[in-house]
Amino acid sequence: MVIVLLGPPGAGKGTQCKRIIDKFKLKHLSSGDILRSERAAGTELGKKAQGFMDSGKLVPDGLIIEMMVGAIAKAGGNCVLDGFPRTVVQAAELDKELARNENKIDAVVDLVIDDSIVEKRITGRRSCPVCGDVYHIDSLKPKVEGFCDKCKDQPLVQRPDDKPDVIKQRLAAYHQQTSAVVGYYAQAGHKILNIEADGAIDDITAEIFEKINGLTTAR
Ligand code: AP5
Repeated sequence: MVIVLLGPPGAGKGTQCKRIIDKFKLKHLSSGDILRSERAAGTELGKKAQGFMDSGKLVPDGLIIEMMVGAIAKAGGNCVLDGFPRTVVQAAELDKELARNENKIDAVVDLVIDDSIVEKRITGRRSCPVCGDVYHIDSLKPKVEGFCDKCKDQPLVQRPDDKPDVIKQRLAAYHQQTSAVVGYYAQAGHKILNIEADGAIDDITAEIFEKINGLTTAR
């Protein structure tokens, strides 16, 4: 099963993906997380991606497509894609690659939300540099303020690209380059599952599960 999760920065893609993978037994493939681990490991790809990420611009398609095609193959084609595809070129390449492996996208989920709400979400986000768990200073507080619930004495950190000027650039990249991916999927005949993403985390999860289950039972 392949699920694509679309939505602007801070829409809650990562938060919802963690729940989707548990429910549907899939691998979570986040292009942002993979890029951050490449950077942390000091790989060539990480070095090439660094400048784009820090300024809130998209990393060039060629680098991303190669990275994600490899990750999908490793996952055996059963995955939730978070943050990929982000351009029409990436979406078309993903379709070709899946078709080459007699696979296809089962569901396209689009998290729909206003820029003003995502800005607040992103500026309040904190994450654990060890396990990667994500919190929010208001909506998803850790048990002990500033520390990871799982890794206990590990202080939470703010992502370097979660600064107001970089957030503006990330949102601009989303509107200029990524929002067109929804149109691409609609034209390609995929049913888009639109989810209003400004509600409570649990309610959004319930709606996503219901809509995905609806698709599978309708087949
Ligand atoms: P990436 O890491 O993918 O960042 P993003 O898309 O900007 O998404 P975020 O991780 O910021 O947000 P999210 O939607 O996952 O929200 P989250 O669940 O954390 O990409 C980073 C960079 O890498 C890009 O700028 C680009 O340079 C590069 N890149 C990555 N993929 C690429 C690609 N395909 N092509 C080219 N370049 C690429 O939630 C946010 C916060 O809100 C959290 O604190 C959470 O707790 C909270 N929250 C979540 N849901 C709710 C809710 N319902 N109510 C209240 N709070 C909530």
